[in-house]
Amino acid sequence: MAEQLPIAVLVSGTGTNLQALLDSVHGHEARVAAVASSVPDAPALARAQTAGVPTAVFPRADYPSRAARDEALADWLAAEGARAVVLAGYMELLGEVFLDRFPGAVINVHPSLLPAFPGLAAIEQALAYGVKVFGVTVHFVDAGVDSGPVILQRAVELPDAREPGAVLAALRPLEHELLPEAVRLLARAAIAPDPENPRRMAIRAGEG
Ligand code: GRF
Repeated sequence: MAEQLPIAVLVSGTGTNLQALLDSVHGHEARVAAVASSVPDAPALARAQTAGVPTAVFPRADYPSRAARDEALADWLAAEGARAVVLAGYMELLGEVFLDRFPGAVINVHPSLLPAFPGLAAIEQALAYGVKVFGVTVHFVDAGVDSGPVILQRAVELPDAREPGAVLAALRPLEHELLPEAVRLLARAAIAPDPENPRRMAIRAGEG
């Protein structure tokens, strides 16, 4: 089998997307080499520990600045051998200091069809707007808020949705499919900018 891409996963919460990665790509196309949390008691940490993956916590309050936190975080991930970074419910922004350490190799999953509803409470924003189509985006991370180039997107029609919990329940399966799929694409270097529009990520079809 081809070499496994060592990835780090950053979390802040329950970690269902981390679990999807552990259950699907871990040990196959990729290896989850490290899990870091911004929150000390995030349930995601227990999922990593159960899978035997090294964990660490980097609370923002422990560092004099965000740049100092980002540098310590990048140092630890690099020491654990990570070559790409997946944000899976990570509730912090990452600055250039961090992104420059993993160029073109930091991705995020967001519960809306970007560029609609970036930032916090995306599902609540979409419900307040009154949309009938919801969705999930996996994108490269840049220094903005959910503004990097789109890798994968999938939509679901929910014309009668009113409750954030119901929308989240409909989006979960999409997240848990799209995020591992994006990691597989990253692992086989199958994502490249379209020469005519570098914002557009072209996906090279897989063998077989
Ligand atoms: C997901 O809805 C993701 O799209 C958003 O945060 C949530 C994380 O959920 N960025 P989990 O911790 O992976 O269960």
